[in-house]
Amino acid sequence: MLTAIYPGSFDPITNGHLDVIGRASRLADRLIVGVLLNANKNPLFDIEERVEMTREAVRPYPNIEVRHFDGLLVEFAERERARIIVRGIRAISDYEFELQMALMNRRLKPDLETVFLMASENHSFVSSRIIKEVARLGGDVRDMVPPQVEARLRARFQRSEN
Ligand code: PNS
Repeated sequence: MLTAIYPGSFDPITNGHLDVIGRASRLADRLIVGVLLNANKNPLFDIEERVEMTREAVRPYPNIEVRHFDGLLVEFAERERARIIVRGIRAISDYEFELQMALMNRRLKPDLETVFLMASENHSFVSSRIIKEVARLGGDVRDMVPPQVEARLRARFQRSEN
């Protein structure tokens, strides 16, 4: 039984994340989506909201569980008996940081492998950061996030539907 972990801040989950999740769920027997509790990026949504939105978005997948975690990713992976960390790569600009993380995680736990999955080109420009900015300024992000995320973004930024 192959367990993989897809970690992230998911502030909030986007269709780009979901694209990678769909691919990873076909590769692993069990996929844990790990939502980082202590995202030191001053998240827009608190951990309960991020977990809730992520759970709702992955409901169609029977082999996916959503958990929050704090501390080192490699320790979370060990607790969950995961052998693989999945990360999505959108563009070459993602690579440097991802390589740094993957090599650090390998140093910390050599038998845990990081696997990079290419997000669909339709989502290559989508990031949680840019979605929050567009939503905050009243732009339409409906094609880029699940419906319940779009609703929460709208509520958070108090924009009425038009
Ligand atoms: O969605 P993000 O913000 O790009 O995800 C980053 C994440 C959560 C994968 C990364 O920050 C992480 O693993 N944090 C946990 C702490 C840790 O293990 N740090 C060392 C890894 S280099």
